[in-house]
Order: sequence, then structure tokens, then C-alpha cells
Amino acid sequence: MKHKMNKVGRNDPCPCGSGLKYKRCCLGKKEDAVEDIKAVYAQKYKIRLKDSKDIEGIRKAGRLVLETLDLVEATIRPGITTEKIDRLVHEFTIKNNAIPAPLNYRGFPKSVCTSVNEVICHGVPGNRELNGGDIINVDVTPILNGYFADASKTFFVGNPGKDARKIVRVSRESLRIGMSMVRPGNTIGDIGWAIENYANSQGCSVVRDFVGHGVGFEFHEPPQIPHFGRRGEGIVLIPGMVFTIEPMINLGKKDLYILEDNWTAVTKDGSLSAQFEQTVLVTSSGFESLTPFDL
Ligand code: MF3
Ligand code: CO
Ligand code: CO
Repeated sequence: MKHKMNKVGRNDPCPCGSGLKYKRCCLGKKEDAVEDIKAVYAQKYKIRLKDSKDIEGIRKAGRLVLETLDLVEATIRPGITTEKIDRLVHEFTIKNNAIPAPLNYRGFPKSVCTSVNEVICHGVPGNRELNGGDIINVDVTPILNGYFADASKTFFVGNPGKDARKIVRVSRESLRIGMSMVRPGNTIGDIGWAIENYANSQGCSVVRDFVGHGVGFEFHEPPQIPHFGRRGEGIVLIPGMVFTIEPMINLGKKDLYILEDNWTAVTKDGSLSAQFEQTVLVTSSGFESLTPFDL
């Protein structure tokens, strides 16, 4: 995208909509600086900042995500199929007057993503039975009163082995560290830098083909939030931004391929992959998770 500053000229119509010239209206007013920044984020980055009403709507959708994940956790055991998890999530979402965002999203055929073991993300629920020792990421996104919230967790099925425990620990901690970088003045690059630095220090790799994203009014909005990056690079975070952080961490190499179904992403080397995701709001002092769970 071309970088273009949307600076308002002194004799241009005031962006506040008064019809007056900018210099006779908001120019020089304190709040005007804030409006300018909002206009730049909207026009240059296509980022739609959220107001307090929007935030409350996303928070409510977020509560539904967490209830759904709790229900899934209580249901997971060896022998159940991923299809069963899909039906559970679908019915619970509908019962709560919400819509499962994944269903028919760009042709996705189910209401939730279930990603087992070497599946990185976008696992399509089906007749695969869970075995003791498996790990499974369940990624839930309801639309409640028009607002989207997006979160996921990776669960153990039965008793985990050493590798399963490690990749789940590292992916959980990757999200915690990424979120800890969220505050006004930091950049999107700071988030990815912190995550990759940590994951690599644990001998794990970070998937580059899928990224976090703005969320709230739509499933996927600008900006993209890579889970790798350079310190100080990328868009500066400002209050009112809402986006996901959802690092996918592999025990082996970061390379992947997509299965014939055109959705399921799996590690090329067959190694385990795990992921945790939350929807976060940039506040004036740092961040608030709108899908809060302990990490
Ligand atoms: N929930 C996923 C994410 O975190 C997106 C899934 S898209 C779908 O962005 F179509 F597979 F549901
Ligand atoms: Co997401
Ligand atoms: Co998600």
C-alpha cells in the first residue's frame, strides 16, 4: 500500500463536518489532534477504531467465546470426534442468539476450527476421533449483535506426553508475552518481535503464513498482526484498536502445507503445533483482553 499522509489543509473543509474552513474551526483545538490521528488510521491503514459502545459489544461476544471454550473443554475426551465438537459449538452459539462466524466464511463448511496435533490451524471438523495424548486447538468466533470476538485454546486429550506439554506451554507463553507488548506507543512489530524471540529461545518455530488481525466489526479487519517482526517497526498502537494475537508455534520447523480440502494447514515435518488466541483492546494505559482467560 502506498504511504500517503491525509493532512487537512488550512483552507480545506474542517473534518469535523461543520462546513467551516479548517482554520476557522478545529485547527488548533486540542481534540483536533486526536481526530487527525483517527482520520489517518482510517484512511491510510483502514483501521476502524472502536468506541465504548463497540467495545462493550465485543466484550459481550467475548464472554460467549469463553463460555463456549469451557463447554468444549468439559466435553473433550478420547473417543469423541471433531464433528461432535462442531455440533456442540454450533448449537451453543445459536442458543445464545449468536451466529458462528466460521460457517460459510469464504466457503468454510463448519462452525468452528478443530486443529489436532500436526494441524496448525483451520482444521475442519469431521470423523477424526480424538486419542489420548492428542492436543487439539479449538478456535471459536461468534457474531453477537453484530460484533465479533475471536479466541482459541489448545487442550490436552487424556494425559499429555512430554512434547505435547512443551508445545502447549510455549504457545501459551508466546501469547502472554505478545499481549504484554500491547500499549500505546509500542508498534505491531514489537509484538511479533517479542513472540518470535521467545519461541526461538525455546527451540520452537513461529508460523509466518497466518497472522493475527483486527476484529470486532468483521471477522478479519486491518491491521495484520504478524507473530514475528522487528522492534519499533510497523504501525504505532493507539487506544481503541482491537485485534487478535494468535501465535501458531511448531515444535519443529515453521514450514507448512495445506491439505486437499483447501483449509487444513499442517506442519511439513509432521511436528506438533499449538496455538492460543485472544482479542485485545489497546487502552490508554496498556491493554484489556476482551476474551480474557489466564495464561
Ligand atoms: N478463527 C480463525 C482466526 O483466528 C479464522 C478461521 S477462518 C475459518 O482468524 F473460516 F476457518 F473459520
Ligand atoms: Co483470529
Ligand atoms: Co480464531
